[in-house]
Amino acid sequence: MRVLITGGAGFIGTHLANRLCKRGSIVRVLDDLSSGDPTNLLSAVHFARGDVRDVPKLWSLLQGVEVVFHLAALVSVPASVLYPREYNDVNVGGTVSLLEACRDVGVKRVVLASSATIYGDQRIHPVVEELPPLPAVPYAVSKLAAERYLFTIGQLSGFETVALRIFNAYGPGQPLPPTHAPVIPLFMKQIAGHGSVIIYGNGSQTRDYVYVDDVVDALVSAAAAPAIDQEVINVGSGQETSMRQLVDQIGHMVKATAHVLENHETSGGIQHLVADLTKARQLLNYRPRTTLADGLRQFYDLDPRMQARQGRVLA
Ligand SMILES: NC(=O)c1ccc[n+]([C@@H]2O[C@H](COP(=O)([O-])OP(=O)(O)OC[C@H]3O[C@@H](n4cnc5c(N)ncnc54)[C@H](O)[C@@H]3O)[C@@H](O)[C@H]2O)c1
Repeated sequence: MRVLITGGAGFIGTHLANRLCKRGSIVRVLDDLSSGDPTNLLSAVHFARGDVRDVPKLWSLLQGVEVVFHLAALVSVPASVLYPREYNDVNVGGTVSLLEACRDVGVKRVVLASSATIYGDQRIHPVVEELPPLPAVPYAVSKLAAERYLFTIGQLSGFETVALRIFNAYGPGQPLPPTHAPVIPLFMKQIAGHGSVIIYGNGSQTRDYVYVDDVVDALVSAAAAPAIDQEVINVGSGQETSMRQLVDQIGHMVKATAHVLENHETSGGIQHLVADLTKARQLLNYRPRTTLADGLRQFYDLDPRMQARQGRVLA
């Protein structure tokens, strides 16, 4: 299979590109490196630096490609609140540019990395794909708009489309930017280093943390599964974990007691978010394989940044 992965030098994209490459696919990656790093890509992956809104570049990269994985995006919820125009430009404009190029060149299928933030605060849990979306932040709006463009342009142009609503992915290589760092690598680093962690709200808010290898399983299945055209499919672990439980679990793993500071001034965001995986099981034969305890352990053991915190010897 010949594939293009936009955003393929990012966290999930690198794991996906390397997995597909090992399975014998011909893998091209387009990434502007605004946050990605191509050094972890296997040498057989063809890397091109560029913007996903650059349609002529996409025309050449799409030659002979059957399946496109569209992962290129700006991904920080708080940053999207500050810079909604930029999020709209890249996440919506980038998706439309890609779909236009796919229409022009002709591909078989486009798989979109969509997001569970689209659900917002729902009363029903776990969340099923049919629930009316309640996006509450510009990032979530941009992902919902991307889904709608995906299905509309795919239908009009005659290629297959599927959107995977990924929940909170974590694992080795996950970016740890100084501002807006994702919760698992941030807490791991802070707790292992005997620092303090800040919990927004009272710590009872729950999330569905899914290990990156499981996300890649779902993406790989979505490239070839039959009868998934125009479908939205949840990709999570199906397990609900509160912020407090996460802190305790990380503390237990790194054998350190977390010093927790509660910030009640700032909301903890969505109160409960956990995936119903019925559709993923039926359509993708998806079975998350990694428990949170195992995933945290693998992340901690495999990511050199975590090892450095403990003063362990780096390879
Ligand atoms: N990580 C998660 O928990 C999660 C959850 C839901 C959805 N997603 C979606 O999965 C995808 C991958 O997320 P990730 O966690 O790997 O994030 P990431 O930031 O590591 O990867 C995104 C990649 O896109 C690239 N990029 C950004 N703007 C670009 C542009 N204009 N042109 C080309 N490349 C560009 C970045 O350089 C980066 O390498 C994103 O679409 C994200 O919205 C991720």
